[in-house]
This record gives sequence, structure tokens and C-alpha cells, in this order.
Amino acid sequence: MASKKYDLVISNGRVIDPALGFGKIADIFIKDSKIVKIEKETAVTKKEKSSLAKDQLIDATDKLVVPGLVDIHVHLREPGKESAETVLSGCQAAAAGGFTTICCMPNTQPRIDSQETVKFVQDRAKDAPARLYVVGAITKNIEGKELAEIGDLVKMGAVAITDDGHYVQNPEIMRRALEYASMFDIPVMQHAEDQYLVDGGVMNESYQSARLGMKGAPAVAEEVAVLRDLALCRLTKSRLHIQHVSSKGAVEAIRRGKAEGINVTAEVTPHHLILTDEEIGKEFNTNLRVNPPIRTEVDREAVIEGLLDGTIDCIASDHAPHTEEDKDAEFDKAPPGMIGLELTLGLIKTFLIDKGFLSWAEAIRKMSYVPARILNLPGGTLADGSQADISIIDPDKTWTVKKNQFFSKSNNTPFIGQKLSGLVSATILAGNIVFDRNKELN
Ligand code: DOR
Repeated sequence: MASKKYDLVISNGRVIDPALGFGKIADIFIKDSKIVKIEKETAVTKKEKSSLAKDQLIDATDKLVVPGLVDIHVHLREPGKESAETVLSGCQAAAAGGFTTICCMPNTQPRIDSQETVKFVQDRAKDAPARLYVVGAITKNIEGKELAEIGDLVKMGAVAITDDGHYVQNPEIMRRALEYASMFDIPVMQHAEDQYLVDGGVMNESYQSARLGMKGAPAVAEEVAVLRDLALCRLTKSRLHIQHVSSKGAVEAIRRGKAEGINVTAEVTPHHLILTDEEIGKEFNTNLRVNPPIRTEVDREAVIEGLLDGTIDCIASDHAPHTEEDKDAEFDKAPPGMIGLELTLGLIKTFLIDKGFLSWAEAIRKMSYVPARILNLPGGTLADGSQADISIIDPDKTWTVKKNQFFSKSNNTPFIGQKLSGLVSATILAGNIVFDRNKELN
């Protein structure tokens, strides 16, 4: 007879929960979509496990078992551009990448700047294999001119606001956005690039842009944007979150802001941690075009340092799917963005953990517990009683990124052909197995 005491047990994996300071071989017992207990095997639990049905037991020997990953910066293209991504395909990509919670940006068509659009996206995610939280727009139609009905968006469930893709250029509007957001206790997430300084630049302004004859977007556009918003955040005593930090100047500004006590948090993407603008001249791969742009080695080192010393709080993918047709253009005509949900874990393992910058525990903390806290979301821990959102990782599995492997509808990444180490083997959402790589392979 199958055990009724537990619905699922994840057996014998190395359980890492940075929030609990836990890192040992143990079993996780799940009942009614919640974690009941984490325990080292005893004579009693051994007996309990032996009474389980086959599909109630996951053997995680030699695997890492960690809180479901949380990505607070994801672009799904529904409504408006379902050929690039739908809510469902984006959530499937999330599950395959070990993410149990993702937050989608409002730059869809139409924009997510009304209760109706928030509700539409939430409805699309009802049976999806990941929890989806919606981030609403700061301004109507993301035009930067008039505030959206922020209270209405929050009432409908928006967890933050951003005009991502665009900087809120008008400082008075940004001030009001911060004031409203603090009334509802949500952060304002900012795409920090002053558009006057970017001035149509398509890659980082540097030796490389000069060499390639391409219009550059200077790093100071980000620094200036961050400095202004830190001042507004200080004034309004609100919460500011800087998205996809890419430059040394911005890291230093955020570091000073935090030291002063300003309530600011920040994220960095895998691509800004790994790539530099030197890559662009090699084959003009339009998948290297992102906003903000990948920058110089000095900037790359600065964002790594910022991540290590806590200036940058968390890692977010900025998963930005675009169709092959759209990316098949000249570099300066291609839309900015690259996909990330299915690559983040392998990229962070290969380029940060294996290179000695981060331990597994630190990396998992910055990809689960910390981002969940920034947006006040449940998750990020395996504590008793918490929802059973769990990622199981094959830590040293090597694999090569292939164009046709993605659950995402898009494959726009410059990492095709890259050899990586570290692969998600299963993802569990509310106690249900929503992704199982073994089944995929069969
Ligand atoms: O590269 C980017 N792509 N940066 C953004 O801010 C927007 C995003 C998109 O929507 O494609």
C-alpha cells in the first residue's frame, strides 16, 4: 500500500538552503504541497520511504536539492507577440531552467498598464508549470508621460512596477512613482539608462564601437540614471530596484547609496557577468545586442565584484525572447535581448561557481531567497511548512547548448554551442513534478 503520510519524498540529495544555513545529505518530505520536514535518514524514515509508491519517491543521490529558483526579470510576449513567447511557453522554459517563480515585465502589446492586462496574463498562467507574478507599468503605455493607475495594478496583484525597456526619463514622474509605490509597499524597478545619453547607441560606447563604426551607448548613461534615482529614493524614502546593472560607475553609485542607507536593491544578468563588447566584432551576432549593452572587461569585473560584496543583491535573467526573423537583421536593426531562463543555472555554475567566485550556497541564495525577498514573494526557502517549490540539480553534468533544445519559443542566445556544466534534472512546484529531464529524454 502506498504511504498516505507523504505525497512525495526527495531522497538522499545534498539539500542546500542558504536561508536556513542548511547543507547536508538529507530527505525532504512533502505533504499537501508543503514541506513537512527535512531529515537525515534514520531507521524510521528508511522504513517510511520503503512504503512509498514508485512515483512518490525521487532518488536525488549525487544531486543538489535547492529552493525553487526565482527570476524577477522575465519578458513573456503575450499579449502581442506570441510567436516569440507565450505565458505558457515561458513558464515551461522556467520549469526546465529550475525556476519555480518568475516575474514578467509589462512591455507587451498592449502594455500591462491596466487591471485587465494584469488579469489576462494571470489567467494565462493558471495551469502553468511555474508561479507567475506580474510587474505592472509605471506609466501609461510605457510612454513616460503619465503615471499608470498604480493602486489598481497593485489591487489586481502586480508585485512591483517598471517601464523596463525604457528609463522613466522625467524625474518628476519618477518621484511620484516612488511615492505611490511606497504607499503600496512595492518597489519601483528601474531600467536605468538615460535616453539622452544613450542617444540611439546600439552597443557599448568604447574602443570596440569605434573600431566597428557603430553608434555607442555610454556607460555613463546608466551611472547618471542610477545617481538621479538614488537621490529621488533618498528623498521619498521608498524602495528602488535597479535592473540589469552593467557598468562600473553604476555599481559604485549603488555601493555608495547603500552605505548611506538608501533603500536600494539591484540585479545583474548572466550575460553582463560573462560577456564583453569584444565578442560583437567576431561575427556581429545580433543575439549579443541587449539593453543595457554588454560592456568592457572593467565593467564585467565590477559587476562580479558588486555581486560578491552584496552591492548587487541578486541574479535575474532578463529573459528576452525574439523570433529568428526579427533577430535576422543588421546588428543595429535587431531588437535587443537574449533568452535566459534555460541557461542561467548552467552559466552561473560554469562561469561563477567553477571559476571560484561563488559557492553553490551563495549562488542559490542570489537566485532564490534574495530575489523573493526583494519583491516580497513567498519562496526561496525549504523551511518546514513552506510551499514545496524545489529544484533538483545535477551539479557537474556537462552539456552543450543547442539551438533546438529550448522550451522557450525563441532561441536567441549567443551561447549556442557553449559547453556548460550544471543542469536542472527536475523541478517541483507545490509538490508536483512539473519538469523531469529523464522523461524528456525518453
Ligand atoms: O535587451 C533588452 N530586451 N533589454 C530590455 O530592457 C528590454 C528587453 C526586451 O523587451 O526585449
